[in-house]
Amino acid sequence: RATPPHRPSATDSPPRGAVKKGHIMGQKVLVIGSGAREHAIAHALLRGDSVSEVTVASGNPGMELDGIRTTQINESNHAAFISFMQHNQYDWAFVGPEVPLIEGLVDDFAAAGIKAFGPNKAAAQIEGSKDFAKQLMARHNIPTAQYRTFDNLEDSVAYVREHGAPIVVKADGLAAGKGVTVAMDVDTAITALDDIFIDHRFGKAGAKVVIEDFLEGQEFSLMSFVRGTEFWPIAISQDHKRAYDNDEGPNTGGMGAYSPSQIGQDVIDTAIDTIVRPTVEAMAAEGTPFTGILYAGLIATADGPKVIEFNARFGDPETEVVLPKLTSDFGAAISAILDGGTPAFTWDSDNATLGVVLASNGYPVNVIKGAKIPSIPVDDASHVYYAGVSNSDQGLVASSGRVLLIETTAPDLNAAQDKVYAIIDKLDTEGMFYRHDIGAKALK
Ligand code: AMP
Ligand code: GLY
Repeated sequence: RATPPHRPSATDSPPRGAVKKGHIMGQKVLVIGSGAREHAIAHALLRGDSVSEVTVASGNPGMELDGIRTTQINESNHAAFISFMQHNQYDWAFVGPEVPLIEGLVDDFAAAGIKAFGPNKAAAQIEGSKDFAKQLMARHNIPTAQYRTFDNLEDSVAYVREHGAPIVVKADGLAAGKGVTVAMDVDTAITALDDIFIDHRFGKAGAKVVIEDFLEGQEFSLMSFVRGTEFWPIAISQDHKRAYDNDEGPNTGGMGAYSPSQIGQDVIDTAIDTIVRPTVEAMAAEGTPFTGILYAGLIATADGPKVIEFNARFGDPETEVVLPKLTSDFGAAISAILDGGTPAFTWDSDNATLGVVLASNGYPVNVIKGAKIPSIPVDDASHVYYAGVSNSDQGLVASSGRVLLIETTAPDLNAAQDKVYAIIDKLDTEGMFYRHDIGAKALK
């Protein structure tokens, strides 16, 4: 269970943004991934005393501004990761994104005698297949929307017509947060099914479709460090999945986040008791024990919290607003989990964090790359986490949909929101866009 709340003192950790150099005794850690989430993971590792060197593969040039090393390794090239770890005498690896987890990178590391934090291939199915997750929840009475799974257009369309709207259509496999259609009318649901079964928009990920009941309530993300049946919950956070203000536009990977959200502690406790604990116990009991970060995407309905989705890794952008709250040594805690010890976690529960994503124009549908990244002045309580950036003659330029996230810590959400927007509103963001209402729902 969670360590008791802790009042941070100035001596808990080095100043935000500082990355120590020249530590001799610390561990060397490889972080796999390249986004703002991995930047936040690497940055948090370097803030603790136990880690002296972090390389992110493949990372991005924005991370190097924080003294983080990067090396180019293709995410599917497991042999190259193993050889990097062995040649450079790295101590352990932290796998950020879902694809290498679902492709069995942790299993391949284990076979080579390398410690890695993240679920193995079997356990990562909780994210890799919505049908797997739904069946597990059904067998163990874990609260989630009623659902049916289909592998063809005719039966799924017939079900949608019979059920009526609102209804939710989800491609079974991985679709980078874009495989879900929340249909407020039957025609929208049928168009989504046509996309999946006729246009094969999600390829293999759309071989099956999960159709589930529409749930109403406030969404929140509850992530936990997990080792088998033991788990240590993290402060809750809230993502903003739609591209534009007021939750309009297409679903994205996430446009901004804040922590904590306004969900009451009673709802969080219920979620831990009815969702997180039974899920990790079910995974262990069924022979697929989970080690890593279990991300529960939840919705607080009138009947209590229910599961929208599970992820087998840290959320992005949630990570960028929760890890800055960690005041204890991140690397030491992960090492303890990997070595069978007892990890210690202390969190800054006095302050709020809020982060806003800058995205390339056109994201998530038709990304227009190449925007010039301005220099971003931040104070010690704020940080820029880079995602899709690359080097060019003109300095850093945008190279994919989500470009970077600006995060700040402040005594409350209002102050955090004011501060982040005071930074962003002054920037030259030509070629990029951002939401102006991150955190607004909590502040109503
Ligand atoms: P997912 O990728 O499963 O997290 O879904 C993306 C978004 O669709 C979620 O964050 C929700 O806003 C919405 N969503 C998914 N499932 C449901 C549901 N059963 N009821 C209402 N909204 C949903
Ligand atoms: N922010 C949602 C996710 O990481 O899937």
